[in-house]
Amino acid sequence: MLRELEPSVERLLERHLAAAHDWLPHQFVPWSGAQDFDGPLEGAAWQPEQSALSPAVQDALVINLLTEDNLPSYHFEIAVQLGRDGAWGAWNHRWTAEEDRHSAVLRAFVHARRAVDPVALEHLRIRHMAAGWSLGCSTVLHGLAYATVQELATRQAHRNTGALCGDRLGEMLMTRIAADENLHMLFYRGLFADALRAFPDDAMVALADVLCEFRMPGTGIPGFRARAVRVAAAGIYNLDVHHEHVVQPLLRALSVMTAPGLGPVGGQAQERIGLYEERLKAQAARARALYARMNASRTLPLSP
Ligand SMILES: [Fe+2]
Ligand SMILES: [Fe+2]
Repeated sequence: MLRELEPSVERLLERHLAAAHDWLPHQFVPWSGAQDFDGPLEGAAWQPEQSALSPAVQDALVINLLTEDNLPSYHFEIAVQLGRDGAWGAWNHRWTAEEDRHSAVLRAFVHARRAVDPVALEHLRIRHMAAGWSLGCSTVLHGLAYATVQELATRQAHRNTGALCGDRLGEMLMTRIAADENLHMLFYRGLFADALRAFPDDAMVALADVLCEFRMPGTGIPGFRARAVRVAAAGIYNLDVHHEHVVQPLLRALSVMTAPGLGPVGGQAQERIGLYEERLKAQAARARALYARMNASRTLPLSP
């Protein structure tokens, strides 16, 4: 399968390199507004009131940054599954080089802006990275399906965090990162489309499995659930976003529900995807009502 898909990897890598614009992370950090911290430089310790960001945006930034931090684990998983040779290896190394600037620039940004607690962030980073991350996918096709969904979900998470952060430079930076994630998604989506043509049944099963079980790579972050609920209630990333901006566009772009050449196994998987989308829509509607109540109770005036 890897050999059969290698010409696709070569073609899509070439397309990626032609479309990707390298950018300079240091240009997106507001160095002039930065201040030394306590410790060896004897500056000022971080105080919660120094952050101009809402708690939900702080939560989203912490999740996004710690997710980007875990790049060594992702590189390892991809190298194990797809190998380090030929076009597969060239893609993984290039992708890793691009991903690496995301954590570097986000961390510099949050430190310069004093946007989140730097001590808590570092403790979380150590715990999160020390735990490692495993793809947990059984086949190459599962891995490709997961990467396709995950890159698009990550694009939305960065884009929406930027849009709601209320910081012009922060929005510019997160839009820039989201543009990288978009190109990564286009690479994996193109590859998965070729896989769907070459191995329709197996690819459809892999996509059904991945969609039904999808979890963001950051779910292992200590305290993830509480942060994710606040992020969801703020509309940064929730089931509606997942459905409207991730699942629906992917199903449409890959023509999943009208894919030709399916046998009984692929047909069942296709049906499973249809049912999953219905379930997701219903869950999103229930969650919407819950978030509306959460947001309303937060804006209630304090009793005298
Ligand atoms: Fe990234
Ligand atoms: Fe990416």
